[in-house]
Amino acid sequence: MPGREDDVHPGAYIPFGSGPHTCIGAGFAALEAALILASLTRSFDFHIENSDKIRPAARLTTRPAEQIMMRVSRHQAEASKVPG
Ligand code: HEM
Repeated sequence: MPGREDDVHPGAYIPFGSGPHTCIGAGFAALEAALILASLTRSFDFHIENSDKIRPAARLTTRPAEQIMMRVSRHQAEASKVPG
């Protein structure tokens, strides 16, 4: 949360690794992810069907421990614009 950054241990969240081989693409990847998410949420709604079960798993990269079941639908306003 804003203002609490200093309370977080530097190793608490390491999706891009840590130490001398930490990911050099981290800034680019985070920017790209935000742009992709913004583009997708303009046109689609995402509803997670099993939100009570989502737990992170620390592997080479952080990932969900179990499958995420998600329902994706086009926004109503968008749907009327698209033929078929
Ligand atoms: C969501 C996207 C990405 C994730 C989750 C990710 C994650 C990682 C992780 C976990 C490592 C290993 C760090 C370590 O050994 O401690 C790594 C290394 C690396 N990543 Fe990424 N990465 C991403 C995107 C990118 C992009 C976009 C680039 C290049 C433009 C990139 C270039 C590299 C390179 C060159 C290394 C090796 C660094 C070294 O060994 O010195 N990555 N990345």
